[in-house]
Amino acid sequence: MLPPILQNLRIPVVGSPMFIVSNPDLVIAQCKAGIVGSFPALNAREKDGEPIQLEAWLTRITEELDRHNQANPDRPAAPFAVNQIVHRSNARLDRDIEICHRHKVPIWITSLGARTEVNAAAHDCGGITLHDIINNSFARKAVEKGADGIIAVAAGAGGHAGPQSPFALVQEIREWFDGPLLLSGAIATGRAVLAAQAMGADLAYIGSPFIATTEANAQPDYKQMIVDSGAMDIVTSSLFTGVSGNYLAPSIRNAGLDPEALAHADPSTMNFNDLSAKPKAWSTIWGCGQGIGAVHEIVPAAQLIDRLAGEYDAARRAIVGL
Ligand SMILES: Cc1cc2nc3c(=O)[nH]c(=O)nc-3n(C[C@H](O)[C@H](O)[C@H](O)COP(=O)(O)O)c2cc1C
Repeated sequence: MLPPILQNLRIPVVGSPMFIVSNPDLVIAQCKAGIVGSFPALNAREKDGEPIQLEAWLTRITEELDRHNQANPDRPAAPFAVNQIVHRSNARLDRDIEICHRHKVPIWITSLGARTEVNAAAHDCGGITLHDIINNSFARKAVEKGADGIIAVAAGAGGHAGPQSPFALVQEIREWFDGPLLLSGAIATGRAVLAAQAMGADLAYIGSPFIATTEANAQPDYKQMIVDSGAMDIVTSSLFTGVSGNYLAPSIRNAGLDPEALAHADPSTMNFNDLSAKPKAWSTIWGCGQGIGAVHEIVPAAQLIDRLAGEYDAARRAIVGL
């Protein structure tokens, strides 16, 4: 049984958080169109002495969704989620937890570390937590530390993808876990959303297709490269963040590197505090999952969600007869 906050979505989809790319415009559009929208807290950045951006983003998202709900009681917005990077290099974590707690964020997505205090803070303000993992052993640890649900990040996902087949991952987790389970990695059609449910997941977790939306905070060339590329254009490398991730090969070539011959990097080089620590040329190396062969145009997020919903309904009728 899903927690009430995850029930009644238009389609069982969470728009996943993406570093730099996710912004309030995208989150609001996703929620208004009936799927959970999310952003990493670290995307809300201010310069020294400026008002705290995260406060402003949360206030705007909450107020706009409230207004939408008052005007459309028959079609209320889906809830939103904030992603916390629970990594020792994230010096903002405690501050951001306090802000999200005060704003009563309904869904907390945690990545790169499971910590009881973060789950406790979310529960204390009435929220739920979903923790992302790449294998069964991390899934068990996350639930032991109090996560309500699991995001299984399988091979082919954008960002820090796992190495495992989605079938293997979901099958192993479902042997012992009957709570909320989301599947991440290369899901880009409504039929694939239904397939995730057939495999045992409750919801699909979709990132890369939303980069090619008008609202996303991505350069026009990045959006167009997603439209022009397919699974064969995605390469896996640890070079750029210290952890294995998936990237658009043409963007690596444009930065003067050979995507077939990238060096490995040490995980200790991961740093979420200091973006300027990375070579400038890497700022145009673009993360992306393998599912983008299904993305053919740059559209408003609502239009992408309409497509997913139409395909999902058609697949249900064709396969399940509902
Ligand atoms: C450009 C990019 C940035 C990402 N940044 C984050 C992040 O900051 N935090 C996080 O939890 N996941 C991040 N992810 C992973 C996504 O949340 C999600 O697991 C993934 O995009 C799903 O696979 P898909 O892109 O094939 O749909 C990122 C993914 C991409 C493509």
